[in-house]
Amino acid sequence: MIKILGIIGDPISHSLSPQMHTAALRRLRLPYRYLPFHVKPAELGRFIQMARECHLAGLNVTIPHKEKIIRYLDGITDEARRIGAVNTVFWKGKRLLGDNTDARGYLHSLKEDLEFSPRRKTVLILGAGGAARAIVDACLATRVRRVILANRTLARAKVLSHHARQFWKTPIEIAPLKAGVLKNCFPDIDLLINTTSVGLSGSRFHNLPLHLLPKKAVVSDLVYRPRMTPLLREARQRGFRVHEGLGMLLHQGALSFQIWTGQRPPLKIMKTALLDALR
Ligand code: ATR
Repeated sequence: MIKILGIIGDPISHSLSPQMHTAALRRLRLPYRYLPFHVKPAELGRFIQMARECHLAGLNVTIPHKEKIIRYLDGITDEARRIGAVNTVFWKGKRLLGDNTDARGYLHSLKEDLEFSPRRKTVLILGAGGAARAIVDACLATRVRRVILANRTLARAKVLSHHARQFWKTPIEIAPLKAGVLKNCFPDIDLLINTTSVGLSGSRFHNLPLHLLPKKAVVSDLVYRPRMTPLLREARQRGFRVHEGLGMLLHQGALSFQIWTGQRPPLKIMKTALLDALR
């Protein structure tokens, strides 16, 4: 019998996950279909009820449901609790549980693409929204030396740093996203990560003092449309190692795939499917 997997979100048509997972399921000849489900916020509870009744095999969850879905599940993993959001729903016996593979996916991708780990490094994170929560957790879980969280709206950075403080000893320093303020810490940064939406469709930061970064610094961007964002392009031109956002999408998906199917995900096939879908 065919089992159903899928992704829920609103909107959902832009999601690349169906192509990525379908390619992997086909390659391994597994008896699943992975479908996009357009679920509006008011429909979320009913959808999860339906997922239970039909015994859907698993789900990915994207904007705007990553936080709200928690109340409809039977439990969540420690990682999902720390991040405060769920991106993967799976069955454990009769319980429908939530996990979050974003942080692990990010770390896997940094390791695979650049052989790099934030462990004992100084990290500057730009942005304090949903995506930043997973990145903060990834950094603190690997025991970074220092984390600076810079956001346009300082209050939001404060909320995120307080949240993380419940789980981790390492304090997060916060700063406004202003070149004049950030320039003092730039010479110490080993890893600069953009988690904001700046870079989407070619939009750009103004006045980020990249020239002050040390030569060894890695510049990472979660935005993957375009793959080479203006930030990454400038960083590459200046000779820094750069890390594209597509890797996190790939590896968070690969981890979900493994949770649902118990099979080792065919990473190459999944990456090719993502690249085809982006083209
Ligand atoms: P996501 O779930 O993708 O992180 P989000 O929660 O809406 O989306 O967060 C978007 C992030 O991008 C926030 O950090 C936001 O800054 P504010 O908290 O000040 O809104 C940041 N952001 C969006 N547009 C920006 C811009 N033009 N300049 C700087 N930061 C921006």
